[in-house]
Amino acid sequence: MLDAPLQVTEAQFAQDIHSQKGLTCASCHGGDPTKADMEAMNKAAGFRGKIERSQIPALCGRCHSDAALMKQYNPGLRTDQFSQYQTSVHGKLLAKGDTKVAVCIDCHGVHDLRPARDLRSKVYPLNIAKTCSRCHADAAYMKSYGIPTDQFLKYNTSVHHDAMVARGDLSAPTCTTCHGNHGAAPPGVDSVKNVCSNCHVFQAQMYDKSPHKVVFQSAGLPGCVVCHSNHAITHPTDARLDTGPEGVCMQCHSPGDNCDLARANMLAGLTQLDDSVKSADRLLGVAESSGMDVSEARLQQDQARDSLTKARVTIHSFQPPLVHQDIQAGLKIAAKDLQAGKDALSERDYRRRGLGVAVLFIFITLVGLFLLIRQIERSPASG
Ligand code: HEC
Ligand code: HEC
Ligand code: HEC
Ligand code: HEC
Ligand code: HEC
Ligand code: HEC
Ligand code: HEC
Ligand code: HEC
Repeated sequence: MLDAPLQVTEAQFAQDIHSQKGLTCASCHGGDPTKADMEAMNKAAGFRGKIERSQIPALCGRCHSDAALMKQYNPGLRTDQFSQYQTSVHGKLLAKGDTKVAVCIDCHGVHDLRPARDLRSKVYPLNIAKTCSRCHADAAYMKSYGIPTDQFLKYNTSVHHDAMVARGDLSAPTCTTCHGNHGAAPPGVDSVKNVCSNCHVFQAQMYDKSPHKVVFQSAGLPGCVVCHSNHAITHPTDARLDTGPEGVCMQCHSPGDNCDLARANMLAGLTQLDDSVKSADRLLGVAESSGMDVSEARLQQDQARDSLTKARVTIHSFQPPLVHQDIQAGLKIAAKDLQAGKDALSERDYRRRGLGVAVLFIFITLVGLFLLIRQIERSPASG
């Protein structure tokens, strides 16, 4: 057991991937690697306890940038973390002497450092937002930089956080999905403009055809983020196209201009299809609960709903004719299903009338029989 003041226990270090791969304190701290524990920490043999923050990336990079060395342990592991780090905002500021930025151990920990795929790792997808927020949500710590510190708070209200944390969907983005971890260019904000398209392919394809793509680009506006925000992305509804408080169009467009008319036109189409789908659903429900078989029309309704979903994607072209193609396709199906519901109900009514007539007929026959039997019983001649 190591001395307490060192604040590194053997039990702790036994959890560390480096220890598990046979590395020792001396691998990072210098000293005598052939000796164990305290003996190894011989200053004369080159041991250094304190490692300056500014030196940490280079220390870790000494091994992690050495492809030949790392290959002996794990050929699949990338060896570009240090070079990437140097291109990031964190790395660039560190090079200028700012030690408040994140260095390797702020994101990975030290002495109980675990592989990224380990659930307890600070960089496991579910833990990343917390790891970044230690600094980025600390207003006092970040004060001198003058950047917002609400990313974590906002991200926690987003559909993405919901998908990842509430539903365990690890394909949803967390901080590093959009900003990168070691670099490329990020963590940074310039390169995140295209990041949404990696996952939301269809919206992006439509957006690429839209008049907005060109004008937003030349105005330096960040594409998707203009209408959806970056950290507090919520589930959009048709109200986004409306002029109410949830609407996003009128911050740029004026009432009555071409774009406003196009907006109203697309919204009207979506509303009409939504209403038609719901009406058909309702009627089919009534028919079904009266025992009619409308399963085929029910199945068709899924296609009408798909058309509505598709139209909501197609609005990203911001071209009403394209949106109306989807809407017309949906309306046609919904109209057929509505008719199927009506037919089923009139069939039901017809059957009910038929049943009524049959019951009446049987009743009359029974009464007739009854009278006939009575007449026969009363007849004296029969004795
Ligand atoms: C993978 C590299 C690595 C290994 C292996 C490692 N350390 Fe460290 N150690 C560091 C880094 C980096 C720091 C600086 C942490 C900081 O600044 O917060 C540090 C800090 C320390 C400190 C605190 C020094 C101070 O004054 O703050 C002690 C003591 C220490 N390590 C002892 C050990 C012992 C004992 C072992 C083996 C059981 C060990 N370390 C293994 C990288 C490592
Ligand atoms: C801003 C936070 C952050 C910093 C700083 C950081 N890392 Fe990482 N690192 C991550 C994240 C997040 C992952 C997980 C990547 C994944 O799962 O795709 C990771 C993964 C890794 C991996 C696993 C292999 C890989 O590349 O996916 C290694 C090795 C690694 N980092 C080493 C380093 C070294 C060395 C440094 C310092 C030069 C460093 N990291 C600095 C966040 C960071
Ligand atoms: C003496 C060489 C050496 C030094 C110095 C070193 N590492 Fe490592 N590191 C390794 C080896 C070897 C592995 C095991 C690779 C494997 O088998 O997956 C490893 C594994 C890792 C992993 C897990 C990779 C994975 O599979 O996800 C991370 C993260 C990591 N190191 C970060 C660091 C950080 C941060 C530092 C600096 C504090 C550091 N390393 C210093 C050699 C080193
Ligand atoms: C140890 C504290 C610390 C941690 C942990 C940390 N950062 Fe940072 N980060 C900083 C500081 C300080 C800056 C410099 C602020 C600036 O850009 O002026 C910064 C800058 C950034 C920037 C650039 C912001 C801008 O507009 O200039 C991004 C993006 C970023 N960090 C993302 C992350 C992500 C993602 C994580 C987690 C994987 C993370 N950071 C973890 C301290 C930290
Ligand atoms: C869905 C992608 C996405 C996720 C997830 C995400 N960001 Fe961002 N982030 C962005 C975009 C986009 C910008 C702004 C780019 C622009 O406006 O040009 C940004 C900006 C930033 C900035 C610069 C300051 C600011 O607020 O404008 C920081 C710092 C930052 N994010 C940190 C984080 C942290 C920490 C997390 C995790 C809690 C996170 N981000 C999660 C996309 C994302
Ligand atoms: C790593 C993949 C990924 C990235 C990157 C990503 N998203 Fe998402 N997004 C998802 C997942 C997964 C969901 C959850 C889908 C669900 O709820 O079924 C989602 C949900 C959404 C929703 C809500 C959809 C709905 O029907 O409620 C919107 C809006 C959204 N993202 C916009 C964006 C924007 C804008 C960006 C870029 C700043 C972005 N996303 C980046 C994966 C991603
Ligand atoms: C000019 C504003 C605007 C821009 C730019 C924009 N969107 Fe949308 N987005 C909307 C509106 C409005 C809705 C709501 C559609 C509805 O429900 O009627 C929406 C809905 C969505 C949805 C919800 C799922 C769906 O299609 O029903 C996703 C995901 C989405 N957008 C992603 C993106 C992505 C990715 C980008 C960038 C490539 C982007 N958006 C650009 C306005 C915009
Ligand atoms: C950030 C500002 C901004 C936002 C938000 C915005 N637009 Fe635009 N939009 C523009 C600009 C600029 C143009 C190109 C110049 C023009 O035609 O007025 C444009 C063009 C259009 C066009 C093409 C008009 C044509 O004649 O080709 C339509 C349609 C449109 N917008 C609809 C919308 C809708 C619907 C929304 C809301 C979901 C919206 N816009 C949100 C700025 C914006």
